Amino acid sequence: MAPVYYNDYLRVPGLKECVRPLTTAHDEHLFIITHQTYELWFKQILFELDSVIPKLNNKFSDNSPTLFEVNHRLNRVVEIWKVLVLQFTILETMTPLDFLDFRSQLFPASGFQSLQFKEIEATLGLKSHTRFHPEQKDEKTGETKPQTDYYKHLGTEKGGFTDNDKSRIEERESSVTLLDAVKSWLNRIPFFSNDSLWIDYKGGQGSVDERINHPFWKDYVVAYRSCLTEFDKAKGKDEELIKAITEGNESFTAAEIKATLFIMSYRDYPIFHLPFQLLTNVTEVDELLSDWRHRHVYVVMRMIGTRSGTKAGASGAAYLKGIAEKNYVFKDLSALVTYLIPRKDLPALPEKLLEKIGYMD
Ligand code: HEM
Repeated sequence: MAPVYYNDYLRVPGLKECVRPLTTAHDEHLFIITHQTYELWFKQILFELDSVIPKLNNKFSDNSPTLFEVNHRLNRVVEIWKVLVLQFTILETMTPLDFLDFRSQLFPASGFQSLQFKEIEATLGLKSHTRFHPEQKDEKTGETKPQTDYYKHLGTEKGGFTDNDKSRIEERESSVTLLDAVKSWLNRIPFFSNDSLWIDYKGGQGSVDERINHPFWKDYVVAYRSCLTEFDKAKGKDEELIKAITEGNESFTAAEIKATLFIMSYRDYPIFHLPFQLLTNVTEVDELLSDWRHRHVYVVMRMIGTRSGTKAGASGAAYLKGIAEKNYVFKDLSALVTYLIPRKDLPALPEKLLEKIGYMD
């Protein structure tokens, strides 16, 4: 076999060929390289997400390396996002005047058309109808309403997507997402469906609320109440917890919420180390995407102020602020920390269960 040559293997000449400015403005070169670098990292993120979703979605043995692999790759996604947030500082060496030297030539292309970015969001679990929709004034009634068709195909002449790209996003939205896979995994966590593990459980004697039927959760609610401040009690935080563990919330069922709270609360036990890390990784990806969106708004404000972007139908920065506030996937999961209680107040677990979640002595 011929020796591998660095420049051939990495296709460096082809890569350099990809930088093709439309103008002679000096900073357009940096503008292109920056966006291309982002797109390459987006490709890597999609590659990792596509590899972990089927692993997590399908049943695997606790003794297999699957959960470690899933975590390892999600952690890589977390690290990439950290770099992507930082990377804006290089583009910010371009000043607004430098940008004006070539901006008009790029019309109507827009970051909105980044297929891979929208694919990442859809693969995480964001759907078109759950995204932020900019408001629009109805010409006839003068009423302001969310623009429901904002993500529909508008055609490239208006800063929208091509038919193919639009279909690709829809395909991603209707496939199994990371959110679906995390939910499926949480539903497979067995501790409350196996009564034999709770046979020697000592608590659960008091009557708390008839909606709660497991003794552990009765004790958990009592312990939660006793650690609330008067202010939080008055706000009905305990009722909120009961509602969450009996009815669920907007994104997660009651069973998924109970599994999450159990992992978070007893995460010091060996069997929960990796599950806890997984929950941390998915919420961190969500937070870093939000960091990225906020950082991007600052860049946009700095470069074009409050001028419109190129995507028809919304003022650039106003739209970007809206997506930064709204477009989360795991917000309802990270919000469960509201219902944690101090370690010293956690119900003592029964022997049989402790054997299951600890190392064998
Ligand atoms: C000079 C710097 C930049 C400016 C002025 C800018 C401007 C904008 C504006 C105004 C929008 C809103 C859509 C529109 O109205 O056209 C947008 C969206 C977007 N931009 Fe940028 N951008 C800049 C840099 C970047 C970079 C470096 C990336 C990296 C890939 C990026 C990725 C995106 C993405 C993904 C969206 C769509 C967000 C969404 O719809 O959720 N932008 N950009």
